[in-house]
Amino acid sequence: MEKIIDEKQQGNSLVMEQKTENQRKLYIESYGCQMNFSDSEIVASILSKEGFNTTQIMEEADLVLVNTCSIRDKAEQTIRKRLEKFNAVKRINPGMKVGVLGCMAERLKSKFLEEEKIVDMVVGPDAYKDLPNLIQEIDEGRNAVNVILSKDETYGDIAPVRLNSNGVTAFVSITRGCDNMCTFCVVPFTRGRERSRDPQSILEEIGDLVSRGFKEVTLLGQNVDSYLWYGGGLKKDFDKATEIQKATSVNFAKLLSMTAEAFPKLRIRFSTSNPQDMTLDVIEEMAKYSNICKYIHLPVQSGSDRILNLMNRLHTRQEYFELIDNIRRILPDCAISQDMITGFPTETEEDHQDTLSLMEYVKYDFGFMFAYSERPGTLAERKMEDDIPEETKKRRLTEIINLQQEHSLFRTQQQVGRTVEVLIEGNSKKSDAHWMGRNTQNTVVVFPKEHYKIGEFVNVTITHCTSTTLIGEPIGYSENN
Ligand code: SAH
Ligand code: F3S
Repeated sequence: MEKIIDEKQQGNSLVMEQKTENQRKLYIESYGCQMNFSDSEIVASILSKEGFNTTQIMEEADLVLVNTCSIRDKAEQTIRKRLEKFNAVKRINPGMKVGVLGCMAERLKSKFLEEEKIVDMVVGPDAYKDLPNLIQEIDEGRNAVNVILSKDETYGDIAPVRLNSNGVTAFVSITRGCDNMCTFCVVPFTRGRERSRDPQSILEEIGDLVSRGFKEVTLLGQNVDSYLWYGGGLKKDFDKATEIQKATSVNFAKLLSMTAEAFPKLRIRFSTSNPQDMTLDVIEEMAKYSNICKYIHLPVQSGSDRILNLMNRLHTRQEYFELIDNIRRILPDCAISQDMITGFPTETEEDHQDTLSLMEYVKYDFGFMFAYSERPGTLAERKMEDDIPEETKKRRLTEIINLQQEHSLFRTQQQVGRTVEVLIEGNSKKSDAHWMGRNTQNTVVVFPKEHYKIGEFVNVTITHCTSTTLIGEPIGYSENN
């Protein structure tokens, strides 16, 4: 899935669209990946049926929830700081209850209650349907914990309440959990086994979004390319499926084409692709349908074969290059982005140079780069020493960030002079006189508003750029309107 939002950024507080009287007030903040933001919409939906109405004012809330991220230590520290703030508010509003959701809840379980006295309730990512019972527990003065991971929970039957929505773009979860066991990653422990959601419920959710005017969806999963529906069950048990189940199964390429055909005017994105699971048929489906956006988030983590192996990333540098070459051949205009980690245990200067040279080869459009952070319980934590000094991790990180900036600029400069189709999402951050939207490659485009409106597809001629933004002039509606 796409991106871990910078942990320094404050979690978004969320507003629900409808209000009715005599309801309790829920304040919810989300941190981390898009899946967390999407899960908070499921939580708001479950709690709206329990009479909870969301508020943006924490001080007036009866229930404060924080959907947490464990991916790096810094993410967890950010949450701990927020809990201090909640504590201060609780002093003014002693009736307020505090619940912790998401990956940190799953990782720390009931230890959370001991470590952070402010917390009343701890709920893991597969236990949100139990929230009504858990809230009853805390209403009666007891602490409540449910961190049971599931083999089949996909929340496929819950219609998420769209929170803080621009009314144009939305996330739709298609898989939960991850079976890849990258040795640095806490996600398989906090989000459990990989399972796919019934394609029918995915198409219904998208149909509902389309009927409400949404123009773009992002299909979300930790590892979307390994999506596989054969009537339920874990991915790893597919071998045991019946012949009929196998014959009628839906893989990711098929899900993409089903979605693209059912909604020809909808823009379709997806995130995240693990290189070891991305197949040629996915790239070929992308080429077939103009409404599937030409953008692939393809994290590689390192350019060194030795480090890839230690990370349990099941492909080599050469295989990654072959995948990149295939993408460039089949989808010449496709944007590609990366995630990288610097300072993984034992990473040498030579390994680091391999990462830089891999980046040189691909020239990614964007990137999300991190210093290695040891996570409790992972194989890397149990078997390897976190032996790269912090300043070396940071220096290498700065080097890859600088190189990425050069490449991003190289990519945006190639767009200058071209006319691109942009879906308008909202105001430009810097100017109320400009709209902000994205082209198919997911690059931000800013242009004067003129008579155009949010949710419209506009052709924009790019006149100049920075490394992250294209700036242009609108020349008319695109035929997609
Ligand atoms: N498949 C997931 C990956 C989630 S984690 C997805 O959908 O995005 C996102 C990124 O965080 C990873 O690709 C990796 O680059 C980074 N990351 C994960 N664990 C990390 C760790 N222990 N230290 C530093 N970065 C980490
Ligand atoms: Fe983590 Fe690797 Fe899965 S990065 S989410 S274990 S693909």
